[in-house]
Amino acid sequence: MPELIQPNKNKPGQHPIIPTNETVELSESEIKQINDALHHVPFASGASIDALKIIQQHRGWVSDACLKALSDHMKVSTADLDAVATFYNLIFRQPVGKVVLHPCDGISCDLMGGKKIRKCLSKKLGIGNGQTTADDQFTLIPLPCLGACDKAPVMIASEKLFELMDENSVANILKDLSSKAGDKS
Ligand code: FES
Repeated sequence: MPELIQPNKNKPGQHPIIPTNETVELSESEIKQINDALHHVPFASGASIDALKIIQQHRGWVSDACLKALSDHMKVSTADLDAVATFYNLIFRQPVGKVVLHPCDGISCDLMGGKKIRKCLSKKLGIGNGQTTADDQFTLIPLPCLGACDKAPVMIASEKLFELMDENSVANILKDLSSKAGDKS
């Protein structure tokens, strides 16, 4: 299984920094986890990615208001935190569905039919890249090489790697992911 956090080269729907008056408070549990992360680094900025992941774990995505609350707590600027969030594909700065689908759009996967898989996902869900279905079940965000070229074409969703995909397997995968997302809600 590849490391899930990868540099963000082509994040769909990239998020500009928008001034916000909305405020949120970090929960006790978020603060405890963030403080734990801060204990392991010499400078607060070194815990930025962990802190963003903690916020996302609790809230599903990282809003501007959360970024501000995090900035106040860590004493790291919102611009620095936003730069880190923007660099990593798997920190979401917009709301996403219960399941985020990451079909690979790398060259090896494309040579093995990846384009067809992405088209098929898009068609079945009725959404384009970076979009979320109306029922908030799925968000589609292709990523570059997922490091499993020998199993191409592949997709990551719900922390699972789906290998050797074909158009016939797409419907079953979606059904399975959909029922698991339903179990969690
Ligand atoms: S190109 Fe898809 S896993 Fe490498």
